[in-house]
Amino acid sequence: MELKIVMKSFKPGELWLDDNGVHLNAHGGGILFHQGKYFWYGEHKIEGQAGNKAMVGVHVYSSKNLYDWKDEGIALEVSENQTNEIAKGCILERPKVVFCEKTNKFVMWFHLEYRETGYQTARSGIAVSDSPTGSFEFVRSLRPNAGFYPQNVSDDWKKPLTEKETEDLKTLNIGGGSVPYYPKNLIFRRDFTEGQMARDMTLFVDDDRTAYHIYSSESNGTLHIAELTEDYLFHSGRFIRIMPGRYNEAPAMMKHNGRYFIFASDCTGWAPNTMRLLVSDSIFGEWEEVGNPCQGTGSQVANSFESQPTFILPVQGKTDAFIYLGDRWRPNHAIDGRYIWLPIQFRHGFPIIEWFDEWDLSFFKVGS
Ligand code: GAL
Repeated sequence: MELKIVMKSFKPGELWLDDNGVHLNAHGGGILFHQGKYFWYGEHKIEGQAGNKAMVGVHVYSSKNLYDWKDEGIALEVSENQTNEIAKGCILERPKVVFCEKTNKFVMWFHLEYRETGYQTARSGIAVSDSPTGSFEFVRSLRPNAGFYPQNVSDDWKKPLTEKETEDLKTLNIGGGSVPYYPKNLIFRRDFTEGQMARDMTLFVDDDRTAYHIYSSESNGTLHIAELTEDYLFHSGRFIRIMPGRYNEAPAMMKHNGRYFIFASDCTGWAPNTMRLLVSDSIFGEWEEVGNPCQGTGSQVANSFESQPTFILPVQGKTDAFIYLGDRWRPNHAIDGRYIWLPIQFRHGFPIIEWFDEWDLSFFKVGS
């Protein structure tokens, strides 16, 4: 007799088996709801440290209830051809898929680092499919917004670097807690012609169906929010930079009661750190950092319950129901990375996250 695995609750951090009894393999993922089904896309990892590189591609699962996931296979495969931009062994992270109503296409964006370049290429990849489960076809990779200045900088900064600034930038050692300081006005100007650096990322589709690409740029020190074109295949050239020098990574966006929120992490590689919540009344408005959304007692509050954000999932058919999706990375055995899903609660209009060993969707009230 066939053994059917039926789940009735979420158990953050535990193994989570698919319909074949295999731990879900969709890390750094995001979820699309389409025609009554959820589709979970994420990085397919393999055993050991080798799993930190893309040896297979982007895995997709489907579900009607968010507990039980059907393996739908590999949505986007890496290429065996070593000259391909998404060659096996490249770094392909944080894939997100949105549906474009205008073109009837499923559009995937992801962070791409060419093979054998470490994390130096800082590019965005784009792939397209006619069906949510693929197969997705790789379209191109790019550096965002080449030839455009951000909307929210003064005219003084909408200029190429001087020779002295170019020299200054070369001598700066830019990294988390950079030495001697983070050059807030240099990197995006250096990258004006070739396009902006883009690593950790998410996509967000607003109520008017305008899509945005939110990515860690300028050597991870600054978040960019960039509008996409109507077909979601390019940037429109309209973008802003937020929190320069704050090193926000792993952005995940949600909207609630007309306000936009970004959950982000600090920049410490695979190791968890303290989460940050950013808020704004409009997407291209003034963003403010309002502290750590993880609440409760215990040391886990300071390390985001040992996770890093990847997505905020609006639950269908429920009011004010959102789930925090985070990754508990296992860089020494990447395939064993765990998923931290926790319900979002609201305190004074702001989203917060508390730990639960086990919880289910009855946590949320039924929508009207
Ligand atoms: C993290 C990032 C991950 C991955 C990792 C590599 O900060 O969020 O997606 O890039 O660094 O060290």
